[in-house]
Order: sequence, then structure tokens, then C-alpha cells
Amino acid sequence: MNEIKKPTDIIIFGAYGDLSFRKLIPALYHLFSDGYLEEESRIISVSRQKLSRKEHIKLTKEKLSEFIEKESFSNEVFDKFKEIIHSVYVDFADNDSYKDLKKILDESSNEDRVSYLSTSPNFFGDICKSLSHWELIKPTSRVVLEKPIGKDLESAREINNEVLKYFNENQIYRIDHYLGKNTVQNILALRFANRIIMPLWDATNIDHIQITVAESVGVEGRAGYYDQYGAMRDMIQNHLMQLLCLVAMEPPCSLDANSIRDEKVKVLRSLRPITRENVAANTVRAQYSNGSINGQPVPGYLDNKDIEESLTETFAALRVDIDNWRWNGVPFYIRSGKRMEKRNSEIVIQFKDVPYSIFQNNGEPVSSNKLVITLQPEESITLSLINKVPELSENMRLEEVDLELISPSSTKRKNEAYERLLLDVVRSNPTLFMRLDEVESAWKWVDSILEAWEDNIVPMKKYAAGTNGPSAGVQLIAKDGRDWHED
Ligand code: BG6
Repeated sequence: MNEIKKPTDIIIFGAYGDLSFRKLIPALYHLFSDGYLEEESRIISVSRQKLSRKEHIKLTKEKLSEFIEKESFSNEVFDKFKEIIHSVYVDFADNDSYKDLKKILDESSNEDRVSYLSTSPNFFGDICKSLSHWELIKPTSRVVLEKPIGKDLESAREINNEVLKYFNENQIYRIDHYLGKNTVQNILALRFANRIIMPLWDATNIDHIQITVAESVGVEGRAGYYDQYGAMRDMIQNHLMQLLCLVAMEPPCSLDANSIRDEKVKVLRSLRPITRENVAANTVRAQYSNGSINGQPVPGYLDNKDIEESLTETFAALRVDIDNWRWNGVPFYIRSGKRMEKRNSEIVIQFKDVPYSIFQNNGEPVSSNKLVITLQPEESITLSLINKVPELSENMRLEEVDLELISPSSTKRKNEAYERLLLDVVRSNPTLFMRLDEVESAWKWVDSILEAWEDNIVPMKKYAAGTNGPSAGVQLIAKDGRDWHED
């Protein structure tokens, strides 16, 4: 299908930051190279560093060759790409300094405009105010807000209220890059395009659900940010909550943004509150100490030169209950941590045992079905079924076999989450972005846990770097007679 492309000005605030070079510019380069950006489109890098055009192009090229795979980079494509990139100095808090940006924007007749705020949220209000002052916001303009949108419900409301003074809710795109991952969107296809899945997706058939987002990396030069946030605010409040919503939501009435967001918000509102009374039984927090990953020694979190005393958690595990008809009695166990044994993000749907087993299986337990949706490091969806071992033994023996629904083998370049999401902003499709009430509902639920943690009701545990978290994380699920899924 041929889509009508509109020339768009994409303005990146915080253009020389880590996210911009690591994710945004590579994503825009791929979109350009694959023909998704109209030729008249422009990328305008806005930052508080003064670089000449020559220096800007040189730096962009260096960073692109650092952050995209070698085979995806081409000098020929870059020579064309550089024609659409521009840069301008702006001191975000100084209204007068926006006049050069205005000049650049006025030079083009591009009607469509996207402002991507990849700065500290402290600047969101100033930037939007100045864009409005210089009459740079049109009815068709969009603004993208990078996380963190706040540290709690109150600060999230302040940030959103500032932006809402200048942009309408339907112009605001709050990004959660997990929603741009192919497998995450595939949850919608799997659940709502497959008749055979539909009747199984509830408390009658499912025993429990696990969501794990494990990283082997540490804080990677972002200690200043991370130490203020920790695993709960950095990962659980947004990425894991979004995954949980997609797995748990009711069928939306269409793929339209509000239909999907309405269903996600209902899930967030049905989460059983975790309060001072039940926080110790339902949550674990921990910080990594020194250890080793792949045989390499790794210093502990507190050994980081930018961190002194800190009670910031680098690991969090929770038992979450959803109080509604579909999920009554089906716990969701979720966990995320840094410096864990390996990078692995997955959702495990563990089905119940058959009502009565006729198989003796030589005394060995017969496992029950499980659907494993793996996001990282490789995408896959695997359904485990029980099969007869092909042999002539007297008693029938059973084994678990995996049915690969998506296999990780495709050689085609995988689109990065930011490519999908940036293209959706250019296309004005907000489906994969978070609406205000989603962000607020997630914060409200998370806040009560964080308050209890701040009062030290749940002790901070330690785990060695390179392991899968503290033993308390294992206990959280083991006390309900279950185990975390391991490959
Ligand atoms: C970011 C967090 O949102 O997600 C980081 O701020 C984390 O701390 C990253 O490392 C993980 O993203 P991905 O796509 O690598 O799983």
C-alpha cells in the first residue's frame, strides 16, 4: 500500500545526549534509508552545545557508525542524509535563544512539525513555553515526551500540566519504547487474531503469568539519573506495567488509539493496591554487589564513582494481582534488574495442569503447557506442548516439545523500537504512546509501594552481579509453590 508521506520537520531537543545518538539518529537514518521519510523532511538537532555545521555532520557520522550495524551504514546514503540534518544552539531555559531555531523553521514550508523532548523533564515546561512564545506550535504539531515523566504521581502531574498549557492531549506523544518492540505489538495479534488462543486466556486455564526484564548491563554512565530513580521508577512503572497491560487487557473494540488505551487503563485501575500492610509479602527490592558476568569481574553498584551512599534498588520483584473477572486468582510475577546473569526479557504464560492425568510417565511429573514470549535478546514465541517419546517402552513416556510460533532465525534487519515509534509520530498515530490517565494510574499504584519502601518496611537485599537477583526474589514465587522460568 502506498502511503502519502508528508514532509516533516523533526526537532530533537537534547540532540547531543546519549539517547539521541544511540537511538534517535540511527532510527531516523534507517527510516530515511528505507524511504519512509519524505525527501523534504528535515531533522533539526537542538542542543546547548555550539558546533559548526561541519563539526555537527562529522560527529553525527561518527556516532552513526558507532551505533548502527556496519552493514547498515553506507557513505552514499549518509551523503544524502546529511542534506536533511541541521543543528542549532538553544539554551532551553533562555527564551531569547530560540530565535535561531525559529529562523530555521521559518525557512521551510513544511507544515508538519514534531518536537522530540529528549532532555531532562525539568526543561519540558520551558521548551514548550518558548515554542509557543515564538509561535512555533501549529495545530498539526506534535510533541514527544521521553521518560522519565516524573518521579511520582505529583511530579508527573506537574510536568504534564506544564506541557498541556501549550499542547492538547492529542498532540502529546508520551513514549515508552517497549511498545515499539515488534514482539510487544505481536501480543495484540497473538491474542486478538487467533481464535484458538481466545478461550484459553483467563483464570480457568492459566495458573500464573511471569514477566521478566533482566539486563546484564549496569547503569552505563547514567548513575546520576539512575540513582534518583531505581528499578521501580526506571523499568517497572513504565515498561513492565505496559507489558502487563497488553497481556491482561480485554479485547479493544478496534485498533484505534483510544480503544486500546481505554482497555489498558482499566487494567491499571484493577491492580490490587500494594500498601504498607501487604508490601512485605508482595515485593522484593535489592541492589547488586560485586560479582562477575561472563567470567569478567564486575564492581558493585556502590563502587560506581558517581554514587556514594545509596539505597536505590537495582532489582525489583513483585507479585501483582488483578481484581477483575478474567484474572481473579491468577498472580502476575514481575521482576526487573540490572547486572543480572544475562540479558533476557520474556513473558511466560503458565497454563494449569490437565484436570486429571491418565499418564504415569514412569513416576516423572508431566509438565503443563506454557507459552513463552521472548522479547530479547532474540524475538520468539514458543508454545510448549506435551508429546509422546517415540519409543517402544511398555509405559508411555511423555516429553515437552516446543512449537515455535516465531522463530528467531530471520536474517532480515530487525527494525528498532524507535524506528516504529518515530514513524508513528510522523504518521500522527498515537496508538503506541501513553495517554495521560495511563501514566497517572501507573504512578498512583507504584507510589504506594515506593512510600512503603522509603519507610523501610521492606529490607533492601543484596545480590551478586551476574546472578538472577537475591534469594528473596526466588522466595517471592516459591512461597506460592511456583518457580521462575529458566531456559
Ligand atoms: C530504559 C531504561 O528505558 O530502558 C534503561 O532507562 C534500560 O535503564 C533500558 O537499560 C532497557 O531497554 P532495552 O530496550 O535495552 O531493554
